[in-house]
Formats: sequence, structure tokens, C-alpha cells
Amino acid sequence: MRNSPQALTRGLSPFGIDASAFRQGLLHWYGLHKRDLPWRRTTDPYRIWISEIMLQQTRVAAVLPYYERFLTRFPSVESLADAPEQELLHAWAGLGYYSRARNAQKAARRIVELGRFPSDREGIRALPGIGEYTSAAVASIAFQIKAAALDGNVLRVLSRVTAEPGDIGSTDVRARFRILADKLIDPARPGDFNQAMMELGATICLPSQPQCLLCPVEAQCKALRIGRQSEFPIKAKKVSNGQVEHRLLLIEKGGSLLLWQRPPDSRRMAGFWELPQADQLPGACVCRVVGEFRHTIVNTTYRFEVAEASIEIADSGFSWVAREKINEVPLSTTAKKALACL
Ligand code: ADE
Repeated sequence: MRNSPQALTRGLSPFGIDASAFRQGLLHWYGLHKRDLPWRRTTDPYRIWISEIMLQQTRVAAVLPYYERFLTRFPSVESLADAPEQELLHAWAGLGYYSRARNAQKAARRIVELGRFPSDREGIRALPGIGEYTSAAVASIAFQIKAAALDGNVLRVLSRVTAEPGDIGSTDVRARFRILADKLIDPARPGDFNQAMMELGATICLPSQPQCLLCPVEAQCKALRIGRQSEFPIKAKKVSNGQVEHRLLLIEKGGSLLLWQRPPDSRRMAGFWELPQADQLPGACVCRVVGEFRHTIVNTTYRFEVAEASIEIADSGFSWVAREKINEVPLSTTAKKALACL
């Protein structure tokens, strides 16, 4: 009962944590040790929003090479709203989860219609592709709105600070952490507080080897106090969907490769170009297997076998693309991995 949402909202020191000492220690450390990241040098909501979209499901190091390039190509909401789809996908290629780019463009068009970037949490949350986490991050960082942003790193920090015994994925635990984070967040510097929590999770409170000796809130950490910091967060075991097999065909004729383009309404990677799969071309003659790779989408790992093949006449729906033009079309990640087998 002590840690129930009701107890927390009654103004007790949440989970026995001294909120003021916690935020002071955290923000002091952040001021000294924060990484110099490009989205921390701006107050422009557009640039902050793009960073948060790119950082969804993607690590900081992977985002860095794309961020400046994307913003050089699309320096304003208007330029993103007007971007031809193929150029947008080209600029995003390599970051994966392409629905983020499409949603970003939908949101940019909405912002252009509105005439300005929404400056309240609900307005930001209503944009396409923006959920609880991203709206809190953008609202707090760009507009200093007191909204706690709970990403995977932040949840791990909270689970250790509280030595939370429940499953980190459960709605019950998430609700408790939301209340706790709302109590801990610094109302004067909510954007810095959120980024400091993310930074702590990304650089000190690491998943397998937490650097507790360097931690600015170690005095507040229950898991460290009981010597069990590596056991948190508690995760219920997930049932794996197992592996699924596919065979991709490399069919070359007169210096051109046979490809097909995903239709605009495709659920995944719409508009991207793919190699044919064997079951799409039953008339193809497979010569030899030249490689294999694995590719994971959400919980499913796909094993791809790559084979050289030939075909008399390609079915409609497929196109011959000259080898030297291949890099000019947006290729799916699996097509790129398959071509790397050559
Ligand atoms: N991950 C998500 N948002 C971030 C930010 N603003 N800084 C560092 N890592 C992040």
C-alpha cells in the first residue's frame, strides 16, 4: 500500500525518495557530464521534435550521422511538408522504421496548416506519430512543460531506484512509475530533468553493468542499498515468435537486376524496392545459394537465404533496374543485406 498510486498522490516522499536531493544531484551531474548532442544546442521545436522521432527505437550513436544531414536537406517544417516521398525516404534510409518518416511528414503538413508548432502537450500529442513519450519529451525540452518522459532508459533507472519487484512491462508498474516521475521532475527545468534521466540510463545506469560508483543518485537507490542493482528491471519472459524462412532471388540480365516496388499502401516500407522472393516467381530457375542473413522485425526473426536465379520472362509487377542505377532507388534493408552477399 505504501507504494500504491493512492499513497504516492497523498504527498508522501515517493518510495521514500527525497525528491529535492534526487533532482539536485541529477541536474548537477547532468550540467557537468552531459554529452554535447546537436539537439541540445537548439530551442527550435522542429529540430527537437525531429531528434525525438529519430531517437524512437534508435540509439543516439546511430541517429547522429542522420540528424544534421536530414535537417540540412529539410531545414524547416515547410520543407519537410513539401518533400517528395522518394527524397524523404532516401534521407531516412538506414534509420529503419520508415513509418516514422511518413508520420513526420503528415505531422509537418498538419503544423503548416496550423500555422505554428503546437506549444501545449495536447496539441503536440495530437500530431501523427507522437505518443505519450514523445509528446512529453518535446513539450518539456522545447516548451519547458512539466511532463515526465518515460523511455526504456528512464524506466530502468526508476526500477533500480525503487527496487521495483513487479514486471516492468505491466501497466500497474508503469502507472506507479508515472506518478513517481511526476513527483521527481524539476518543475523549473523539466526538459533538462528528462534528458538527465535519459542520460543517466544511457551512460551510467547501464542494463548489465551499472556504474554505481559514478552515479549522482546512488544515495537514493534502493537496489544498490540491497546490493541487487543488476537484477532490475524485472521483466516477465516473452514468448518468442520463432524464426521464419524466406528465399530472395538475385536475377540479373544484361547488367540489370529484377526488382519490385512496394505499393504506397504497403504496411511495411511502402515505396521501397525489394528483391523478388522465390514464392513470388514460381517460374524462376534457382542456380545456387550465395549467402544468408537474419533480419528481425519486432519479435520475429526472419532467416533469408539469397540465391542466384534466372527467368525467361519476368511477370508484370517486376522491373529490370540497371546495376549502376540501383543506388538511386530506395532499397529495403533486406534487399541491401541480400546484395551485400554478392
Ligand atoms: N533519447 C531520447 N531522447 C533523447 C534526448 N533528448 N537525448 C538523449 N537521448 C535521448
